[in-house]
Amino acid sequence: MDKTAAEVLPSQAFGAVHTSVAHESAARHVSGTAVYIDDMPEPAGLLHAYLALSNISHGMIRALDLSAVRAAPGVVGVLTASDIPGLNDMSAMNRKDEPILAKDKIEFDGQALFAVIAQTREQARRACSLAKIDYDELPAAIDFADIDTRNGKLVTEPLVLTRGDTEAEIASAPHSLSGEIRIGGQEHFYLEGQIAMAMPNDGDEIMVYSSTQYPAEVQRTVAHALNVPFHAVEIHTRRMGGAFGGKETQATQFAAIAALAAQKFNKPIKIRPDRDDDMRLTGKRHDFNVSYRVGFDDDGRIRGVDYHYALRCGYSADLSGAVADRALLHCDNTYYYPAVHAVSAPLYTNTASNTAFRGFGGPQGVLGCERVMEEIAFALGKDPLEVRKANFYGTRDCNITPYRQEVEDNIIGRLVRELEKTSEYARRRREIRAFNAQNRFIKRGLALVPVKFGMSFTNTNSNQAGALLHVYTDGSVQINHGGTEMGQGLYIKVAQVVAQELNIDISQIKATATTTGKVPNASATAGSTGSDLNGMAARDAAIKIRKRLAAFAAKTYGGTPDDVAFLPGCVQVGSTRITFADLVKQAQFARVQLSATGFYKTPKISWDRTKAFGKPYYYFAYGASCSEVSIDTLTGEYIVERVDILHDAGKSLNMAIDIGQIEGGFIQGMGWLTTEELIWGRNGFLRTHAPSTYKIPLASDRPKIFNVALTGWSRNHEAISYRSKGVGEPPLLHGISVLHALSDAVASVANHCICPRLDAPATPERVLMAIERLRAQSG
Ligand code: MTE
Ligand code: MOS
Repeated sequence: MDKTAAEVLPSQAFGAVHTSVAHESAARHVSGTAVYIDDMPEPAGLLHAYLALSNISHGMIRALDLSAVRAAPGVVGVLTASDIPGLNDMSAMNRKDEPILAKDKIEFDGQALFAVIAQTREQARRACSLAKIDYDELPAAIDFADIDTRNGKLVTEPLVLTRGDTEAEIASAPHSLSGEIRIGGQEHFYLEGQIAMAMPNDGDEIMVYSSTQYPAEVQRTVAHALNVPFHAVEIHTRRMGGAFGGKETQATQFAAIAALAAQKFNKPIKIRPDRDDDMRLTGKRHDFNVSYRVGFDDDGRIRGVDYHYALRCGYSADLSGAVADRALLHCDNTYYYPAVHAVSAPLYTNTASNTAFRGFGGPQGVLGCERVMEEIAFALGKDPLEVRKANFYGTRDCNITPYRQEVEDNIIGRLVRELEKTSEYARRRREIRAFNAQNRFIKRGLALVPVKFGMSFTNTNSNQAGALLHVYTDGSVQINHGGTEMGQGLYIKVAQVVAQELNIDISQIKATATTTGKVPNASATAGSTGSDLNGMAARDAAIKIRKRLAAFAAKTYGGTPDDVAFLPGCVQVGSTRITFADLVKQAQFARVQLSATGFYKTPKISWDRTKAFGKPYYYFAYGASCSEVSIDTLTGEYIVERVDILHDAGKSLNMAIDIGQIEGGFIQGMGWLTTEELIWGRNGFLRTHAPSTYKIPLASDRPKIFNVALTGWSRNHEAISYRSKGVGEPPLLHGISVLHALSDAVASVANHCICPRLDAPATPERVLMAIERLRAQSG
């Protein structure tokens, strides 16, 4: 081959890493041809299951009469707790505190009591309401007001972070203040609701199609419930229509019901609750009550800070312990605290069991801390951004977190400087002050808020992944891994890694459905670690294949394996160039194994919870957002005028996908802190159980000007897929700048002298009440 030909070739085939290839399902998503479980052809004899829900929050079932249910049209049978041959448990942490079906105790309004199996879904659903149930009601703990937040029953031992003598520092600091912020929860509102379909197979075998982020956990729960070995249960997840943490543990119940009914009736079973029941049954983002006391100097630098993070966990542990821990581990955000004392209080309540939700407690942790920054700024009459910067890690000679991990990769200073410039913060700050001075009813507000987010599961053993790669004799490739696709673009990112390593066009690579039969014992796709972990596992498998092919090519065409060059779509050995497909065909003929597994575990992490000490995060992802709002001070209504985000995705695997994650994450975070409000009645009934009363952002709620950019220059460690960073969750925290911009606008009615102390969500009602309160206070 002549050298010049090699030089004109691009060095990488189309679709390698660091390119913006489209999501592998983009065309199918927008044309409605992507297959979700409810789109699958229904097998012959399919029956439908529906869950009957309790309508008390706490009590004992005295009598359950299901005769009318059984006699209803189309009903084939019912499934109750006593029909479960194995374990009636779906608890996440093996705490055995979460029955699949209530036995005799009811612990929240909306708890599943029994399932009806019928010919149609509608028949099953209608029959559910015919049960006659007698309860003995017990007093219920619903809201924080019902519980002593410092002495209530806890899901886990509190996590305590301490450094220095916080009390002494607060007492001796030139200034101090205290306060609290109430932070609401959030419904996941995945567009595809919870769903599962189970198929009984040969002997004890069962196949369950499940919309889950965690197939291995569904497999475990189903196997335990059916009382069969794990090997008899296969869980299959092609894609979810959104999950956001809501299908990390809470998809198991539906899979288990489908599987139990399939076993009992020996028929395929599908279960899909309607939206209202989905919202009542499943847990949400934890709502928090954060109280704080802080001592600081004249420049706004914190001397010592004390936090108490109380959260409502619901009736069972689920992931609440880990959520509370992540909140606390984010109470520093991007700031160094010389002295700190922070305690969590994960409280039991008689509500659905709260669970993972994008950010996993991190957003609430950061919001508590950002309120403190805001309070300090008001106390000193400074711009909050100035106070934030004065406290940044790196500006005070110390980069040690309250849990003793060093912030080695700190880029927040540079990142915020760049965003200040591109968002024209200083100029707009002046203009907004001038605008507010001239306008009586419409007031504008501006806020720039930084974010730092720890990456890795604090549960060290979860930081592992497996992959399975097959090469076929036409040169096409299947890649399978333990990660699940929920819209975030994991499959395309992992396929890009394979395209990079084998140097073949991305169209040659198919990412296939996640199944426990191909990659066993996988962790949940969560904690934004999907592409970090699975990308590296796939890379490991691809490198094995490449090495085998290189050895074969060298043996066949001369030279050493190191002389074999993988060019786009072909391989060059000495003067011989052959296509990848031809090489593969020859290799198969020569009996070279063309299938490989890959494995990865995150290095260098450790976490000792009892000592609150270690390196729980392999790295941090950073970002900052600047939001501008305008509010109508007569009604409390508002508009998000402009948002600028600068976000760190390391050396991005796929810039288009990452920008999409940032835009979506921001909007979801904005929804959490503005319009999405969960309201429970005093009896524990979730009153906002449908889109008519629970308002997620619409397309029309997006910022009028929305500039999202990646820090092109930041780089992760080499041990993470091509120096990229996880990007799934951190951008949600950018919604925090909208809350602070609203607060800034509200504060203008009292000449920025009083901190508005807006609770979240800052609905128009809450904004209006804050305005009225400030007007009253300032006379
Ligand atoms: N993006 C879409 N479109 N849909 C989702 O359900 N879930 C988020 C985030 N982005 C989600 C999403 C959550 S909670 C997590 S933890 C990550 O994606 C998980 O995927 P990753 O680890 O591959 O980033
Ligand atoms: Mo995401 S909350 O970690 O599933």
